[in-house]
Amino acid sequence: MNHFIEISQLSKPEVMALLKSALSLKNGSICPQYPAIPLATLFYENSTRTRISFDLAAKRLGMPVVNVDIATSSEAKGESIIDTVKTLAAMGIKCFVIRHKEAGLPIKLAKTCGEGIHVINAGDGMHAHPTQAMLDFMTIMEQKPDLSSLKIAILGDIRHSRVANSLQCLAATLNVGELSLVAPEQWQPTVVHYGTVTDSLRDGLAGADVIICLRVQSERFSTGDTLDLTSYRKAYALTKTTLAYAKKEAMVMHPGPINRSVEIDDEVADGPQSYILQQVQNGVFMRMAILSHLISGSDSLA
Ligand code: CP
Repeated sequence: MNHFIEISQLSKPEVMALLKSALSLKNGSICPQYPAIPLATLFYENSTRTRISFDLAAKRLGMPVVNVDIATSSEAKGESIIDTVKTLAAMGIKCFVIRHKEAGLPIKLAKTCGEGIHVINAGDGMHAHPTQAMLDFMTIMEQKPDLSSLKIAILGDIRHSRVANSLQCLAATLNVGELSLVAPEQWQPTVVHYGTVTDSLRDGLAGADVIICLRVQSERFSTGDTLDLTSYRKAYALTKTTLAYAKKEAMVMHPGPINRSVEIDDEVADGPQSYILQQVQNGVFMRMAILSHLISGSDSLA
């Protein structure tokens, strides 16, 4: 594994090795150090969780970290992102964590970079957010390790969600028993990687062991998309009432950031079934595992 671009590049054993390493990093039984491997974060879209957890993950691994401020970088003078990456690589940066609105940009950069450079996709347009999917499954498997017996429901604005794409691909790789994709018609996926689409909240959540609620991503709507938040909320919000459609102990998850009182109510987001902050916590360890595997391979962490 030289770059971390999308879930489809990973075999099931590779996914399982990453999950095992993330858990070992979390319980403190391993903590490799890479002081000679500098990392840069380049975020062309806003982020709290992903950028800061990569920053913390790299620092815990002893890596020097540069958070590139795009607004004050020479890209404002017309420099291309490829030239920016090549310039930073010439200074010795080895790992690039990139978030960008252009789907496919991380793979383009990975193909351009020379030997010994690692590109990590921190979200590219509506295409993929593979590290989020990995930390989500880490969180699920800590509680419910037998994925083949689970029903997972992904709920909300699936069409505009790169997280939903990566989650579907990972559910397929890990042979999740049942994946339900619940959305109103206008937000249903144009391509289904895995699972069954329904516009019925009650049917989609029935018997679910895990509900992953997605953010309404108004910033990704095309011109002409209509958004009636009141109708959406009425039909699809995760509330105390609609949560009861799922199994009694169903896990509630959300990749964040949350639109409170739009797609999810406070009493559910902050309730006893919520694992939203565990997702955030696991993000640091999963990103440590991904960086470690890129730098030194999985064998070194066994
Ligand atoms: N889930 C996620 O990607 O959150 P941020 O946008 O805060 O990084």
